[in-house]
Amino acid sequence: MNWSSELPTLSAERVRLRWLRPEDCEDLFSVFGDPAVMAYWSHPAWEQLERAREYIRDIHAGFAARQLFQWGVAELDSDIILGTCTLCSYSAEQKRAEVGIILGRASWGRGLGREVLNLLIPFAFEEMDLERLEADIDPNNERSLALFEGCGFVREGLLRERWRVHGEVQDSVLLGLLKREWIPG
Ligand SMILES: CC(C)(COP(=O)(O)OP(=O)(O)OC[C@H]1O[C@@H](n2cnc3c(N)ncnc32)[C@H](O)[C@@H]1OP(=O)(O)O)[C@@H](O)C(=O)NCCC(=O)NCCS
Repeated sequence: MNWSSELPTLSAERVRLRWLRPEDCEDLFSVFGDPAVMAYWSHPAWEQLERAREYIRDIHAGFAARQLFQWGVAELDSDIILGTCTLCSYSAEQKRAEVGIILGRASWGRGLGREVLNLLIPFAFEEMDLERLEADIDPNNERSLALFEGCGFVREGLLRERWRVHGEVQDSVLLGLLKREWIPG
């Protein structure tokens, strides 16, 4: 990987994955501040806009350390941020990373999740030279399970009582996708 200061921009038919900027705060807040969107996320919905500012700073710091690769998902025409997608828990040595995706409610059910993963997966395998991608999903998050399984991820196990969020203990389904099994979508 020889990118310097920013993640590369990746474009598809309706969305663009791009570097997040401070002016994206309000768009980001409308996603991460919505309790319905955050129902299966690893932390509760934000209550203050300031969290969006801190979040963008953390994303930039994570990229500078080459630990976190988190793009804004922007609508192609308007460039408005609809959500984010992430490669985290990255190990160059083990050639693996975990995939995360979040979109605002108005974007659900339009195939945009699939469009995003169809940009992110080839990037991870071909540009970052990874061999394995993982996803950690709440068993009740049917929409997300359908998205990842539809993109070729395979259920590998159930991790019991892995998260404590919203005052509840939650299990995780762990899914994996191997480069050697991957069929480009
Ligand atoms: C998970 C998420 C990104 C999915 O995005 P999306 O744009 O709705 O996904 P898509 O429209 O591409 O749909 C993906 C698949 O789910 C299916 N699906 C859509 N709505 C569904 C529902 N209510 N229940 C089950 N499956 C559903 C679609 O049919 C599609 O399958 P197909 O491609 O075989 O037709 C989005 O719902 C989201 O951001 N949720 C909140 C954050 C979250 O939970 N993220 C996942 C944590 S890893």
